Amino acid sequence: MAESDLISKVRGSKWSLKGMTALVTGGTRGIGHAVVEDLAGFGASVYTCSRNEAELNKCLKEWEGKGFVVSGSVCDASSRDQREKLIQEVASFFNGKLNILINNVGTNIRKPTNEYTTEEFLTLMSTNFESVYHLCQLAHPLLKASGMGSIVFISSVAGVVHIGSGSIYAASKAAINQLTKNLSCEWAKDNIRTNCVAPWYTKTSLVENMK
Ligand SMILES: NC(=O)c1ccc[n+]([C@@H]2O[C@H](COP(=O)([O-])OP(=O)(O)OC[C@H]3O[C@@H](n4cnc5c(N)ncnc54)[C@H](OP(=O)(O)O)[C@@H]3O)[C@@H](O)[C@H]2O)c1
Repeated sequence: MAESDLISKVRGSKWSLKGMTALVTGGTRGIGHAVVEDLAGFGASVYTCSRNEAELNKCLKEWEGKGFVVSGSVCDASSRDQREKLIQEVASFFNGKLNILINNVGTNIRKPTNEYTTEEFLTLMSTNFESVYHLCQLAHPLLKASGMGSIVFISSVAGVVHIGSGSIYAASKAAINQLTKNLSCEWAKDNIRTNCVAPWYTKTSLVENMK
């Protein structure tokens, strides 16, 4: 029995996402990878992206072997042009409709506030905040067209309290928390729910690389 069938059987049909479409940014490692497998395990058809083509292709092959329906393409989510291309690809792959957008991509450079350069400020804000803001704008027509849309931001506890993660990262996540509140009200009329998840430290490559 394929892993996807086994997971569906264990979870039961009550929680099925069969027929749903999802875009998960940054799905090749860490939290995004786990989210791709969870959504696909519930029966959703998933599209993902990352910057490393070899790693992306390896993941896609592994998911195919597990019986998951996952596709994807290379995209640097911090690039405006590449975000536009990604959403065009998603629109064509899912016939203009998207149920779930998981805004997962994020990065960090941890330093004392006085040591950040302008370039580092711009890198963190464009990767963590501008990218998700723009992806929401681009995905809005697709989410609305699905008739049942859902946006989930991967924020952080750092956006709520001080945890020594660096002030730019914290501010970018706090901005996501407020954007969640705005969109949840503004886009409710379009049947789009907006939520965010704020994880505590999770052992992923992001955390390992900051040691
Ligand atoms: N780990 C934690 O403790 C923790 C805690 C709270 C919140 N979070 C948040 O959770 C999210 C995921 O973090 P993680 O720890 O799972 O990170 P991770 O292990 O570094 O994985 C990040 C994933 O996103 C991709 N990615 C990174 N930058 C990208 C870009 N510019 N464009 C496209 N893809 C990109 C990576 O692939 P490529 O590098 O190949 O592009 C990888 O697949 C982030 O928003 C992070 O802030 C993490």
